[in-house]
Amino acid sequence: MQIKNITALAPTDLLILPIRQGSHDLELWLAKLPIDLRQTIPLFSQDKDTFKLGQMQFFQSSDAVLPRILLVGLGAKTIENYQLFQTMAKAGQSAVKHQLKAVTLALPVEADQSTLQLCGTALAWGAYRFDKYKHADTDKTYAGIQEIHVLTAAPLPVLAGQITLDAVQLIRDLVNEPSNVLTPQFVAAMAIQLGKETGFQVTVLDHAAIVAEKMGGLLAVSQGSKQEPQFVVLEYGADFKDSPTVALVGKGITFDSGGISLKPGKDMHEMKMDMAGAATVLGTIYAAALNQTPIHLLGLLPLTDNMPGSKAYKPGDIITCMDGTSVEILNTDAEGRLVLADALTYARRFQPDYVIDLATLTGACIVALGHEAAGLMTNQEALKTQLCQAAAQTGERLWPLPLWPEYDELLQSTVADMANIASKPIAGASIGGAFLAHFAKDMNWAHLDIAGVAFGEDALSHGATGYGLRLLLEFFTILLAPASAAIMQRTISFH
Ligand code: BES
Ligand code: MN
Ligand code: ZN
Repeated sequence: MQIKNITALAPTDLLILPIRQGSHDLELWLAKLPIDLRQTIPLFSQDKDTFKLGQMQFFQSSDAVLPRILLVGLGAKTIENYQLFQTMAKAGQSAVKHQLKAVTLALPVEADQSTLQLCGTALAWGAYRFDKYKHADTDKTYAGIQEIHVLTAAPLPVLAGQITLDAVQLIRDLVNEPSNVLTPQFVAAMAIQLGKETGFQVTVLDHAAIVAEKMGGLLAVSQGSKQEPQFVVLEYGADFKDSPTVALVGKGITFDSGGISLKPGKDMHEMKMDMAGAATVLGTIYAAALNQTPIHLLGLLPLTDNMPGSKAYKPGDIITCMDGTSVEILNTDAEGRLVLADALTYARRFQPDYVIDLATLTGACIVALGHEAAGLMTNQEALKTQLCQAAAQTGERLWPLPLWPEYDELLQSTVADMANIASKPIAGASIGGAFLAHFAKDMNWAHLDIAGVAFGEDALSHGATGYGLRLLLEFFTILLAPASAAIMQRTISFH
């Protein structure tokens, strides 16, 4: 899919006009458009309900330049970037429903560059499909939206938009790919290929190397699977000596059956998404490399299945993690924290300025926040502010959850340094965070529990969402230009 900036209207299958309720947006556009279109859009009214947020009106015309128009209501109030993204995504989905190939987006004239980019990305996001395995289908010949034109008064550098789009699509494709195809080896091979294409270093630790590193957490989780685990290390921008070093850690469970503590059958198929953290880290480093962002990045991907094979680790087992911590396994379904523990320990050797892990870690985080926001846990207040600022900017909601010392007590074990689950089924997301905090130690660290946001079940976001890529890229911008941070805090939309 191509996204490009145009400064004069050219024919496409659909013109999308987002309109603010009670504004002159539509009149302004109608004055600029070919005359017969004014008849196409009948009796334009400023009814109370017209153009309320998310309301779509689709018009067909006989005009060759603009055969169809989609009016998208933006509501009367200032909206959060999250809502703007959702609304534009719906418009993209509607274009797919009509089987269109090229669309033009024209926003109200005051829209600034970041709003235009957000809307263009959202449109493309809504048009995403994962249908490579579908053969005979009614829409077999329809290949999806190929082109998005963003109409602006002045030229806009949308190259970054294209890279973002490609990287988000890459992440979604990886997360949607089933685990019979997407094995740890598959991800490692993909990382090597992307590294070659875009110029970042990739090192793959195989089973023997993982044993040599004494990654007891990753080894324990992988024991029950025939698939060999892989630990993939990505490095980009080592030459940027003055830039901060950011280590990104991504949970890479290619399938989470729960292991011996087997999950219930219902919805188990969705656990092919348990490597969304790893996919997001890979996609982010890919995008940063293409953008040539002047930042030193590391990506650490512990990759394995969590299966109940005959060699599987079992409740009651005591394992030793890479940093020497002994962990009593009380539930083999709390596997993500074990592989992340070793990845965090490995991260330390690079002496990173920041460590951010992304993990579909707990169902409890979904109970707490639903599918609306990722949970943010951190040992550094400044990092929280920067990440939340980035999230507000990209419309990827993030919400802080506590890491109080009392949670550590719940992780006490009678036989080992720690247990892998709490003694009571409470505060599950924070417990996961508290477990990881033990391994992050004194590093500046943040944990993003993306269990609820990485994979959707509703019509708009069915399957992988690509959550986190735009957030991290925005976070890098904030890190690299602290002086402009105040500007970024400007109110989000163009109202
Ligand atoms: N991968 C799951 C968490 C998850 C659940 C992600 C639903 C996305 C949707 C994780 O490995 C897990 O199984 N966590 C357990 C932890 C528990 C055993 C302490 C959970 O949330 O039930
Ligand atoms: Mn699990
Ligand atoms: Zn898991």
